[in-house]
Amino acid sequence: MAVIVLTSAAGSPGVTTTALGLALTWPRHVLLADCDRDPSQAVQAGYLRGMDHGGRGLVALAHLHREGVALAPELWRQTLPLVEQGDKQRRLLPGFTSAGSSRLFEHVWNALAEAFEALDDQGVDVLVDAGRISVTGLPLGLLTAADVVLVAVRSTLRSLAAARIHLVSLEDQLRSLPTPTPCALAVIGPGRPYSTAEIAAQFGLPAWVEQPWDPKTAGVLSDGEDEPRRFHSGAFMGRFRSEANALSERVSRLRMAVLEVAEPAR
Ligand SMILES: Nc1ncnc2c1ncn2[C@@H]1O[C@H](COP(=O)(O)OP(=O)(O)OP(=O)(O)O)[C@@H](O)[C@H]1O
Ligand SMILES: [Mg+2]
Repeated sequence: MAVIVLTSAAGSPGVTTTALGLALTWPRHVLLADCDRDPSQAVQAGYLRGMDHGGRGLVALAHLHREGVALAPELWRQTLPLVEQGDKQRRLLPGFTSAGSSRLFEHVWNALAEAFEALDDQGVDVLVDAGRISVTGLPLGLLTAADVVLVAVRSTLRSLAAARIHLVSLEDQLRSLPTPTPCALAVIGPGRPYSTAEIAAQFGLPAWVEQPWDPKTAGVLSDGEDEPRRFHSGAFMGRFRSEANALSERVSRLRMAVLEVAEPAR
């Protein structure tokens, strides 16, 4: 029961790879939504090795919205399978397909976010790859629906300097919401050179995800490189599995706390 938004400041720290790794190991049914406004079809062209989206995704949802169709009942039909087997549904909502198409979406974000929240009734969590924060910030509709916003950073000074700039506008946006949404870090490759504890202290934000540096194995997720033997049971995906479990539990606890504030026990 969660909507988790992943984003970054600049420089491709690994948002898409991390969102996909979490989606492949998430403990519940999950939708990975490619909401990067700078379109790249990264998951289809990378991990899914050129899978045809068959016209499904955000652009189709924008057309439906313009025709007055409610998005919640349509959303699942606009997705592709990330995996063929398994007891959990793991689906991808394909993203924008042309440079300008995110502009068509300005009036659709709220409706899309409501459709994400409605998936809760079907026991589906949503991981949103929101791409970079950008100079205009993230779509407010997405932030309103989010239980938490995770900002991916590498542990280099370059990545952290960019995060410091863009976190200011993201935190302003988050404070402007009716219910403030928490923000946490996802540290990709800690210790190169700064540790997660140093980074968290510098930003005054908790680090809820920490993914070790492993460019070769990360290439399986980001670029569809050949899977090494025992990829899914190996250390890299094992780490995602434990991060996914911990994140899912944290978000359920957050939701319980919000409900208790809204409806205090009599
Ligand atoms: N844990 C990791 N260890 C090493 N390399 C990683 C790790 N995670 C991701 N990468 C690598 O970082 C590069 C960028 O990854 P990715 O495309 O996920 O970044 P992004 O933040 O989504 O970028 P963009 O903003 O361009 O969409 C890829 O080459 C990927 O393999
Ligand atoms: Mg990306």
